[in-house]
Amino acid sequence: MKKDFTISYDQFKSVEELNEIEKELFEKAKSARENAYAPYSNFFVGCAVLLENGEIFTGNNQENAAFPSGLCAERTALFWIGANFPDQKVKKIFIVGGPKEVSEKNPPIPPCGACRQSIIEYETKQNENIELYFSNLHEEGIKVSSIKDLLPFYFDGTFL
Ligand code: THU
Repeated sequence: MKKDFTISYDQFKSVEELNEIEKELFEKAKSARENAYAPYSNFFVGCAVLLENGEIFTGNNQENAAFPSGLCAERTALFWIGANFPDQKVKKIFIVGGPKEVSEKNPPIPPCGACRQSIIEYETKQNENIELYFSNLHEEGIKVSSIKDLLPFYFDGTFL
């Protein structure tokens, strides 16, 4: 029997289409990107995370000469939040990425598979979806209302 997944997402051509808090997240993710430590890939990613108490925290990718020891922007931010604000729900995550020298051709950068898995863990933990946005530096991007839309057949603690 053949079955299908359907995902819905919003596409924006400019952050001007977003509300004030979403624009702020974009600006903060973009600034955080500038502090990424990415000497090996020269690919700079920033991420801004909105908590339910209204605070926004940021992260960026942190690379390492032993490549697998580095970490993506999303997990750098989320693990720090998980360590310091374990009871705060995560409401929104905004990711802005691209090569160091960006051009208008660079597409919006979606989270990698490992980050999708990690974000799902926090959705499960807080029993509430996290809205996720990703864009390029030219402000066009995608919004999904849950990371689960980007990871069909996801694995979580319910299987254990
Ligand atoms: N990267 C992120 O920070 N987030 C993602 O979701 C995709 C990839 C980083 C990891 C590495 O430092 C660089 O981008 C190139 O893969």
